[in-house]
Amino acid sequence: MALASDHKQANEEINELMLSLPKEMGLCAGPYVHLFQDFWCPSFYFQGVINFQKHFHAKDSDVFVASFPKSGTTWLKALTFVILNHQHFPSFENHPLLSSNPHELVSSLEFIFSHDLHDQILNLSNMSEPRLFSTHLPFSSLPKTMTESKCKIIYICRNPFDTFVSAWEFSTKIKSVFSPALTFEEAFEKYCNGIAGFGPWWSHMLGYWNESITKPDKVLFLKYEDLKEDAVFHVKRIVEFLDSPIAQEGESSAVIENIINLCRFEKMKDLEVNKSGYIHNIAEKNNFFRKGKIGDWKNYFSPSMVEKLSKIIEEKLSGSGLSFKVHS
Ligand code: A3P
Repeated sequence: MALASDHKQANEEINELMLSLPKEMGLCAGPYVHLFQDFWCPSFYFQGVINFQKHFHAKDSDVFVASFPKSGTTWLKALTFVILNHQHFPSFENHPLLSSNPHELVSSLEFIFSHDLHDQILNLSNMSEPRLFSTHLPFSSLPKTMTESKCKIIYICRNPFDTFVSAWEFSTKIKSVFSPALTFEEAFEKYCNGIAGFGPWWSHMLGYWNESITKPDKVLFLKYEDLKEDAVFHVKRIVEFLDSPIAQEGESSAVIENIINLCRFEKMKDLEVNKSGYIHNIAEKNNFFRKGKIGDWKNYFSPSMVEKLSKIIEEKLSGSGLSFKVHS
């Protein structure tokens, strides 16, 4: 009884904190984003974020998929799940990915912690190792237990043009109560000012980018466009980063080809399991598989928008060594 009322009080305090923060409308699983620890946290995830920061204990064997929303999270979850569990599920004909959506196989910690805390903590500590989770939190807001343990983080980002379009299209399809009351142009202005769920996008990318340079054994930094263009090379990087036994297998090249094939956009989009049903009760599974292309932004952006976003990219990323391919 005391536990339940403690949790109720903690939740009320979290709610009060959220209400005290600067708030904006912005692309996210809405309706609002709140400025917290230098990033824009969606209301939907606020409680989960606080509880994740406070109560999650990383293990050295943990693996995390981290990303800015709409950068290829679903794809990376699929690839990482298959690689990490290859010994348990060596068959590609009868693989869990054929009957479960990647978001069901790899849960987001900010989502997990938005549910009954006691049950979640118990479930997490009972999970078999290595555990695999995902997060959209910026690197600087990850709990210390993650940054200080030997766990590994695989980050994916995508060129800001396509990321914006993907986020915009996604936002128009999630349950209406969460849809932004923003036009494409208004959402773009906010995005240019960094206001979107888990943004600003530039500090999100740079946080993980810088960490991947200073600690390459801790953070593997991937780009959506690179994975598209040379999946074999980059999937091998993931295999090596995770010290997966696949690297030592005699048939390692064939296994890597099979992994890529299993996680291919067209293949995943076509699976019955990804055609209907909801993720987190707000987004239909099929909305996670739209076009899967580089350069779709050309169908949406006016010349002045292209100029504006190009300038921001140049300004924000200059000197970092991080750049993007924006055409296919
Ligand atoms: P588009 O909206 O441009 O099609 P996230 O998974 O982070 O939400 O990102 C979603 C984007 O990744 C969508 O981009 C989606 O189509 C694309 N995507 C999903 N699965 C993919 C896969 N297996 N291969 C390539 N792209 C994929």
